[in-house]
Amino acid sequence: MIIIVYKLHVIKRIAILTSGGDCAGLNAVIRAVTLRAHNKYKWEVYGIKDGTLGLLKEPIDIVKLEPNNFDGNLMRMGGTFLGSNNKGNPFKKFIKNGKKTDSSDIIINSFKSLGIDALIGIGGDGSLKILQSLTKKGNINFVGIPKTIDNDVKNNELSIGYDTAVDVATNALDMLQPTAASHRRAMILEVMGRDAGHIALNAGIAGGADVILIPEIPYSIKSIAKHIENLRNKGRNHALIVVAEAVKKENGKKATVKYVDGEVRLGGIGNYLGDEIYKITNSETRVTVLGHVQRGAQPTHRDRLIASAFGVYAVDLIAKKKFNRVVVWKDRGVQDLALSHVAGLSKTVQRNDPLIKVAKGLGIYIGELN
Ligand code: F6P
Repeated sequence: MIIIVYKLHVIKRIAILTSGGDCAGLNAVIRAVTLRAHNKYKWEVYGIKDGTLGLLKEPIDIVKLEPNNFDGNLMRMGGTFLGSNNKGNPFKKFIKNGKKTDSSDIIINSFKSLGIDALIGIGGDGSLKILQSLTKKGNINFVGIPKTIDNDVKNNELSIGYDTAVDVATNALDMLQPTAASHRRAMILEVMGRDAGHIALNAGIAGGADVILIPEIPYSIKSIAKHIENLRNKGRNHALIVVAEAVKKENGKKATVKYVDGEVRLGGIGNYLGDEIYKITNSETRVTVLGHVQRGAQPTHRDRLIASAFGVYAVDLIAKKKFNRVVVWKDRGVQDLALSHVAGLSKTVQRNDPLIKVAKGLGIYIGELN
């Protein structure tokens, strides 16, 4: 008689990496994953350094994570102590020995050599897409967690880092308003968000802006000028304008900055608007480009909560062997969706977003809506 013994695969070790642009709340999610995995399941947890780049290093750059790593102030800090990378796709562009090459096989083989049972990847829509392809190719058990200040991950109400970025932009408006009033100026605040206007719309309303420009809605300089003049005629001596970085110039071109390494990034729409508004109004303009303070700030309580909830849930998904899933925030709680419903799919501001109505109701100029 032949007895067949089926050996059930038991999870013992998991790894975590942060990929794409950093944001506030990443250290809090790494902490949550480590605590849950250790406390509930007694698993070993490894952090891969610098996104997938850590797997290209020789020796592989990983660090064992223990609960006591998080005794200090790590969860209160912005950024990611594991490091991240938002340059290039390992299938096409990672540089090895000075040459651009497809590094996916090296990454997969390095990961496999570690004997790790599952990977948690924290990323935005683009990073999750890359991780989806890598883990599919390598047959790696994967769970994704959405993070991005842009909050543009589809089918997910809140990404880690977004709340902090909106808070930073709102605080900036709070600080610009007194100086705008002192000098009777129109202050322009350029915020991040890539192709989505979520940060600009939310911070603009919360921070009392008079004009909010987002990439999803066209605008006219003349209408902005008229709006500012109307405010002045009614007695206001200053104006606050928030513009998302991907808003185009009136000629339809994106404002971009080319860095010395040849990388092109969004930037400069604030200065363009400052000049154009100054030319045709009595308003002296000044421009503040908020930049990376939106990413490196101390996480708000909400980002810490979401990060903690996502981290615990992601570990539990692995325990249930539910792979190729992404945790999402929906209806005031965590749920999980198939990776294919989230990875690579973006979410911009819709015309019927309730906040558009709120902005209009407050008398804010938000573009040419009709
Ligand atoms: O996606 C996050 C983000 O901060 C965008 O809002 C911004 O356009 C971009 O990353 C900036 O990238 P980098 O850190 O490479 O300047």
